[in-house]
Amino acid sequence: MMYIVTNTIKVKTPFLERMTQQFLSSHTQSKMTDVPGFLGFEVFYRDVPDEADVSEVVALSRWESESDQLAWTQSDSFQSLHQHRKQAHEGKPKESPVLGNTVSRYYSAE
Ligand code: HEM
Repeated sequence: MMYIVTNTIKVKTPFLERMTQQFLSSHTQSKMTDVPGFLGFEVFYRDVPDEADVSEVVALSRWESESDQLAWTQSDSFQSLHQHRKQAHEGKPKESPVLGNTVSRYYSAE
């Protein structure tokens, strides 16, 4: 049964384009090969209603199953590619254009 994970990142609008371009350039098809159960990665954005100069980027990944997605987050390759960034931001939170992020997980209804 298909499974998706979304990471919704709130960002100051002036940084929106930089953020979406960074996602697209770092998550090309050729860089995401050989991950078992991985089906695709998409990036969406919107301006948040009623919040001036705040936008959201949704990074969505599609998987064959929940266990495939879990296995990937526990793999060395995920840890090394995605962990150091988080640590880099922790040292200087005031300079980050990221206002917050929320991870959500969904099962396909089909
Ligand atoms: C939806 C959640 C995801 C988020 C928020 C995310 C975030 C990031 C970030 C912040 C980077 C560092 C980019 C940089 O240094 O410029 C990165 C790199 C990377 N991510 Fe993700 N990622 C996600 C999902 C995935 C998935 C599903 C895959 C593969 C199946 C993947 C594969 C990679 C690879 C291969 C890199 C290194 C790209 C490079 O060095 O050029 N990511 N990711």
